[in-house]
Amino acid sequence: MTSQEIRQSFLDFFESKGHKIVPSAPMVIKDDPTLMFTNAGMNQFKNIILGNDPIVYSRVADSQKCLRVSGKHNDLEEVGHDTYHHTMFEMLGNWSFGDYFKKEAIAWAWEYLVDVLKIDKERLYVTVFEGSPAEGLSRDDEAAEIWSQFLPSSRIINGNKKDNFWEMGDTGPCGPCSEIHIDLRDDDERAKVDALSLINNDHPQVIEIWNNVFMQFNRKADGSLEDLPAKVIDTGMGFERLCMALQGKKSNYDTDVFQPVIQEIARLTGYKYGENAKVDIAMRVIADHIRTIAFSITDGQLPSNAKAGYVIRRILRRAVRYGYTFLEQRSAFMYKLIPTLISVMGGAYPELISQQQLIEKVTKEEEDSFLRTLETGIRLLDKVMDDARKDGKTEISGKEAFTLYDTFGFPLDLTELILRENNFTVNVDEFNSEMQKQKERARNAAAIETGDWVVVREGESRFVGYDVTEAETEILRYRKVKQKNKEFYQIVLSVTPFYAEMGGQVGDSGTLTSENGRIEIIDTKKENNLSVHITEKLPEDVTETFTAVINLENRMATSCNHSATHLLHEALREILGEHVEQKGSYVSPDSLRFDFSHFQKMTKEEIREAEHLVNRRIRENFPLHDMRELPIAEAQGMGAMALFGEKYGEKVRVVRFGSSVELCGGTHVNSTGQIGMLRIVSENSIAAGVRRIEAITASKLEEMFDMQQDMMASVRELFNNTPSLVTAVQKTIEENADLKKQLEDFMREKIVSLRDKVLSNVEEINGIKVIHLNLEAAPDMIKTLAFQIRNVVSENLFFVAGSVNDGKPSLTVLLSDDLVAKGLNAVNIAREAAKEIQGGGGGQPFFAAAGGKNPSGIEKAIAKALEAIK
Ligand code: ALA
Repeated sequence: MTSQEIRQSFLDFFESKGHKIVPSAPMVIKDDPTLMFTNAGMNQFKNIILGNDPIVYSRVADSQKCLRVSGKHNDLEEVGHDTYHHTMFEMLGNWSFGDYFKKEAIAWAWEYLVDVLKIDKERLYVTVFEGSPAEGLSRDDEAAEIWSQFLPSSRIINGNKKDNFWEMGDTGPCGPCSEIHIDLRDDDERAKVDALSLINNDHPQVIEIWNNVFMQFNRKADGSLEDLPAKVIDTGMGFERLCMALQGKKSNYDTDVFQPVIQEIARLTGYKYGENAKVDIAMRVIADHIRTIAFSITDGQLPSNAKAGYVIRRILRRAVRYGYTFLEQRSAFMYKLIPTLISVMGGAYPELISQQQLIEKVTKEEEDSFLRTLETGIRLLDKVMDDARKDGKTEISGKEAFTLYDTFGFPLDLTELILRENNFTVNVDEFNSEMQKQKERARNAAAIETGDWVVVREGESRFVGYDVTEAETEILRYRKVKQKNKEFYQIVLSVTPFYAEMGGQVGDSGTLTSENGRIEIIDTKKENNLSVHITEKLPEDVTETFTAVINLENRMATSCNHSATHLLHEALREILGEHVEQKGSYVSPDSLRFDFSHFQKMTKEEIREAEHLVNRRIRENFPLHDMRELPIAEAQGMGAMALFGEKYGEKVRVVRFGSSVELCGGTHVNSTGQIGMLRIVSENSIAAGVRRIEAITASKLEEMFDMQQDMMASVRELFNNTPSLVTAVQKTIEENADLKKQLEDFMREKIVSLRDKVLSNVEEINGIKVIHLNLEAAPDMIKTLAFQIRNVVSENLFFVAGSVNDGKPSLTVLLSDDLVAKGLNAVNIAREAAKEIQGGGGGQPFFAAAGGKNPSGIEKAIAKALEAIK
């Protein structure tokens, strides 16, 4: 079977068992502070599992794009070095929410592998949880008993908490699990060593393929376990590993999922796969990482300097490094793999096709920029080695290696490699200790301590903020959060008019008032689909009834900006083309920011056209059509614009103003006329192929106009309220240029006459022509004078001039070359003399200048300079 057929057969099998097939959620997670990326198929169901969201389908199956590169599940360092771990991989999963449990889950897993896929059952082994007395958990006898119907008990083995108790993260859903392992070794090897001894032992051909988790608990922040509202089946099968098993391969990278990309790497670099261990590792790293990069870009996560974007950037850089070190790639090349990747994955993930140009541009630019950094780093390392050589050392300090790591992205192994080639070593212990220190710094900076929820009353939270701006409400639960030594509280309300930050729109602020007082809500955020209200102070009595009121002025301004963003999005697609896709947005009361794919700078005319089109639609005063709870298919049928990387449910909200139709959860104006007007204040690039527009609307725009008009009026007043300001300014500029020229001519003449006067009055001391003067002139004028004199008197010339200009003393010394040849030095003379004016200076042996702080010392300074000649 091809990989495509394998994926489909899994979905078909579970569909036949009454499962609803759902799409993969985006790989980048936006509303869960405990998780940056989807690391398991169950993430998108976390709220259902915890009982926060209702169960819509009790049986679900899918193929989920997962990324295990940070947090609890992190395989990054393994990737490439072994043949069965990945950064991004697909997880085939089936779920039961309060429906079937262990019996069916186990039976169906077996049926699918053995009866449908015809995997040799003699090669299958299973593990069950051995129990953990410390946590009061006993051995999973139930699972073992069910398994024994399918395979001999000798192949059902116990596993410890690390392997057989699955947890999503430090907190969240968890439970005992039962893994299915497969032995893919050749028969002679199997005869020699029993697979039982190789399970969970890092053997590349005796590996886990499917994990069945029997979710029963929620791990709380204090480490304790609480029961979930309903028992859940959560399974995850490694798609790439399954492909390896079914396609008779010994490595995931030998399957049709990876081979085309690996062969393309081989073609582009001229190296062959399968001949040299290091080359193979590099090729696997690159083949793996390019998938992660491409998928995260389509999911809306561009490489960047912070958070999820930084993780993606580091993955990309890891691949560039392997290419640089082991495949001799000195210029960008990974972006050239995208067409091949698309030929493999584009069928199942068509968003790769529609965003091909963007993926290639972003990847290439990231590669280029990192390669430049690498070159700089290598030059730095050369210098470090040079210095060490001079000191007769052959070891580089760990500090220096760490700087290279931290600033230039050089991991230790790359530094060591380059050093080794030059017969150097590095102090690894020192490097590790620097690394440790940095980790601690980062931990302290990022540390958030979140307490467990204190439940005041049970119930669901309801958002009413589309329709009303205040509501009677009660507190459902609250918790304390500590971040960077600041303490605040998060509150969940039964009914809330507060919009929680989402989809680029900032959260509402406002107040909670009861008979006993009022507290401020400073922000509202979305967390796992819950609206969390943030406050520095809890109400005295949390059980009271409150009136929740939002800050209306901010909300209105934000809504204007949000609706304007929709109009702008539409206008840009009309003016620039359909390739324009939203890549991000930020909507606040002050302004709006809209990021979109487009490959060149917008012209002045295009910007004007976009403004005009939006403003026309504002004036047309289109009413808001707010369609809630629309089935997603119906919304798509209306041509509603959706964003990749957003998680949409079965039912969606559609926001329409005239011909602008978008899937959107934000707050909006009742009709576009409320926006007043839009003005684009900037347009620039934020990444390869991504532009950013910032714009303002409504009263902010009025403020800007007021300011500009006031400024204009003041300027006009300076020009005697002339009706033609531009002509007046132009005239002034011309007059100014004329005057400047006249002044220069005048100065030139003045210097010439000064020069002639000085020259007619030269003193001779010891056969040297000495000129000394004290005058009031700017230093550069004195310099010009000195050089003019030098042109006339080329031998035996000693010139010293003191000057106080604008209250600042300065001293200038100039010597003819023959005096310099005799050993006199203008710099030394000026420096010594300048002590009298409390100053210092510098220059060259024939000309030096010094500035100072003490104007009254200028005569003494001149006299001191003259001593040199006497
Ligand atoms: N959630 C389970 C896992 O990721 C299936 O292994």
